[in-house]
Amino acid sequence: MDQRLEEIVSFYTGYDEAGRLDRRGAFRLERIRTMELLEQFLPPAPASILDVGGGPGAYARPLLGAGYRVRLVDLVPAHVEQARSGQPPIDAVVGDARELPEPDAAHDATLLLGPLYHLQDRDDRVRALREAVRVTRPGGVVVAAAISRFAGPIDFAVTGRLTPAIVEESRQILADGINHPGLGFTHAYFHRVADLITELREAGLTGIVVHGVEGPAWGAADATAGTPAEQSVFDGALQLARICGTEPEIVAASAHLLAIGVRQTSGR
Ligand SMILES: C[S@@+](CC[C@H](N)C(=O)[O-])C[C@H]1O[C@@H](n2cnc3c(N)ncnc32)[C@H](O)[C@@H]1O
Repeated sequence: MDQRLEEIVSFYTGYDEAGRLDRRGAFRLERIRTMELLEQFLPPAPASILDVGGGPGAYARPLLGAGYRVRLVDLVPAHVEQARSGQPPIDAVVGDARELPEPDAAHDATLLLGPLYHLQDRDDRVRALREAVRVTRPGGVVVAAAISRFAGPIDFAVTGRLTPAIVEESRQILADGINHPGLGFTHAYFHRVADLITELREAGLTGIVVHGVEGPAWGAADATAGTPAEQSVFDGALQLARICGTEPEIVAASAHLLAIGVRQTSGR
């Protein structure tokens, strides 16, 4: 396994990804809004969904519960084990988004909620997207998550980490999109909206729409945690996220971007 993949496996092997979406207000917004968007864009159950980078099964499990047929592929063996052993158990296998262990056109929809921000090279991201297109039937949808280029600086501000060194780090992230692990997380790539759209288009997807997931107030939801305003700010942030979903000037203020595209019915 190459060094970049080893970094990802080693990071997640010592990290509680299964509990992540409950840990912070911003992550709870991420879960609720991602699920809402999946409900909006996935074909109805019992469609077949491939969840690539599905981790321990945060979305695979509720989709299974809703009657979908779900298969999960993830790079991290510990995640695959958690996916298989939880309730209900998920049909899960270790694999790399760039080379999926799946036949052509095998699924009605493919989720790519993780690999795009872990793949630092554009060629690798387009390759992962092309693989998602290959395994999705013509007319099926691909749903791909990215981290916004501006998520880092907003997060540093919310968590009170705006030291001169971190402001300098923010300048560098804004310039090239590469996150360095000194600040937590792994090496990663943070997208601009226009680049995300171009990558999906290059992979052969059409009808592309990009939604801001958490909306512009996710930082406030985090910053008020543990205060009397926590619940009302969270509720307001969720409403704002829904209102601002595809508003072009503010989409990138969300921490996550969710891009949805359709596999063409002819050609690819
Ligand atoms: C932050 S987790 C997201 C998990 C879940 N999809 C979610 O949205 O909550 C990112 C996931 O992507 C997986 N991943 C990263 N690079 C990958 C690759 N090249 N192929 C498959 N999975 C990958 C990681 O192992 C991890 O489980």
